[in-house]
Amino acid sequence: MFKEHEGDLTGRNAPPVRDAAQEAARILGHVIQCDGAHATIATTAAGNKSQEAGQWSVGKFISISLPNTRTVGLVHDVHVDGPWHEEADNRMLVHVDLIGEVRDGQDGARPIFDRGIAKYPHIGAIAHRIRQRDLAAIYEIGGNDAVPVGNLSQDESVSANVAMGRTLNRHFAVVGSTGVGKSSAVSLLLHKAIEARPNLRVLILDPHNEFASAFPDVSITLDSDTLDLPFWMFRLEELVEVLYLGRDPIVEEVELLRDLIPAAKHENRGAGNVSLRRSSEPGGITADTPVPYRMADLMRILDDRMGMLDSKDLRPVYRALRQRLDAGMRDPRFRFMFGSRIIEDNITAAIGRIFRIPAQGKPVTCFQMAGMPSEVVNAVCSVLARLAFDLTLWGDGKIELLLLCEEAHRYMPVDPRMGFAPTRHALARIAKEGRKYGCYLGIVTQRPGELDPTIFSQCSTVFAMRLPNEQDQAIIRSAISDASASALAFLSSMGQRECIAFGDGVAATMRMKFEVLDRRYIPGSAVRDHTEDAVVQDIDLNTIVERMRSGGRDGISDEVWSNASVPGAPAAGGPEQRPSLARLSPYVDEPIRQERRPDGRLFG
Ligand SMILES: Nc1ncnc2c1ncn2[C@@H]1O[C@H](COP(=O)(O)OP(=O)(O)O)[C@@H](O)[C@H]1O
Ligand SMILES: [Mg+2]
Repeated sequence: MFKEHEGDLTGRNAPPVRDAAQEAARILGHVIQCDGAHATIATTAAGNKSQEAGQWSVGKFISISLPNTRTVGLVHDVHVDGPWHEEADNRMLVHVDLIGEVRDGQDGARPIFDRGIAKYPHIGAIAHRIRQRDLAAIYEIGGNDAVPVGNLSQDESVSANVAMGRTLNRHFAVVGSTGVGKSSAVSLLLHKAIEARPNLRVLILDPHNEFASAFPDVSITLDSDTLDLPFWMFRLEELVEVLYLGRDPIVEEVELLRDLIPAAKHENRGAGNVSLRRSSEPGGITADTPVPYRMADLMRILDDRMGMLDSKDLRPVYRALRQRLDAGMRDPRFRFMFGSRIIEDNITAAIGRIFRIPAQGKPVTCFQMAGMPSEVVNAVCSVLARLAFDLTLWGDGKIELLLLCEEAHRYMPVDPRMGFAPTRHALARIAKEGRKYGCYLGIVTQRPGELDPTIFSQCSTVFAMRLPNEQDQAIIRSAISDASASALAFLSSMGQRECIAFGDGVAATMRMKFEVLDRRYIPGSAVRDHTEDAVVQDIDLNTIVERMRSGGRDGISDEVWSNASVPGAPAAGGPEQRPSLARLSPYVDEPIRQERRPDGRLFG
């Protein structure tokens, strides 16, 4: 095999071997064809020692020596030119993609890699196995942002680094079929991320209840028993999703609710429970404004209005709504929203607990969704994603928040009629605008083909693990732009822990293997262990919440507000059709129209 001898590419200083020239011919090749992006190298393989030709196997980097640079190629096809001879040398053709070039640093400094190619190889140029130093140069990430997460598949002694900041704030995706190690990779990435960025908070939407055990000392767990998300923090459509269990709501009942909720909010405000800076404006409070109200008030107003009805025709609507609200409040599955502490304005405590402010040594929240009715999951995810975005938006950049979505295709499906529209909107808003404020998205899915492509396209770093499905592979292929696309040919054949990482978070497309994770950190394996640490962060949640609620412009840069007029423009349609948080958060997706959808549902 080729041994590393610095400055020795021609075999001049090769150790004495019986037939040095023949040996050199096997470890070296010559360029016989080259176009703008590819080259063909001719070399030989001895029939009886063919394993020696391993350096020319698919997926390996090779290097082509030019006077001042070395062109780096990635082998994507290799074949014997003619029949195979066991007892003789066989001529072999190796096709490579040209991915960049390496220059030696000044005065023995480390070599430097460039993605572009300034000088193309000439015919006859010598090709050989890449040096370890060159390989390391290709994947070198400058600054202190580099975090090692594994090793290169080609050379296990070279560590695979990601630029953690860029990986997070331009959103990332981990894709691969079941069992290849996605969740473990996520656990690894998150452990590294919270270590590298102490201000980062992570909310994991965990459909399999498997992550709590992987973050034994640094996470809290929320489920429908421990979650405290008062109903008044839900938008009308979210509340309706829960109350009607995802079925078609009755339009008249929803309209009635739309009237009653603001009335109940005014009632509660009159009781002096809340200070609302802009409450004097008529119509300032809508059914969607996150202002507390009491169900008791709402019921009373409903009863009063029912008593004053002129015609009897509407009475059944009032009665039906009353029954529905009663049933919802009594349903034990909804205790987290209609629970006991609903009367006081507990938004600060609720948000602080969910989003770990202060972190108290546990910056990760595992939101366990297994066993929850899917409609509740839909509504809760929508509320949480909205809150995550608003919190970072109004937090003046002090809060960095990662929302990690396992099984993301479930709540962001390709078909816009599937899934729950408000959840999609909330997540799409993070995908499109979140990075400006420090709200990041991590997407995990085994079916990228079933994931909303607009969300996937916002993920600038992708860790693609084994993916046998053609359609899924095509999605990944379309996400990679440069010559390294042929690296994706391995998508169907990679081993466990192995992935092809590409995009902004890595220096160059790399085939790598994630580190072996300690058993304790593999999702769904270890046992939890609670310890509390008191690390109080310098974040004034009261102020943030106050600003979220008031929708005030104070503290928000003019730029944000001048941008706000475009996406947040008033919707066409009746009053209150804009979700009220549109006022609070300038970046809202398309207006949510109040129309029956093709599937007969009211929203979306
Ligand atoms: N980085 C890793 N270190 C150690 N074991 C791993 C690693 N990745 C995967 N595994 C093993 O593979 C199993 C399946 O991995 P998992 O992350 O649950 O896959 P997925 O989420 O893709 O279904 C794990 O239980 C673990 O035993
Ligand atoms: Mg998994």
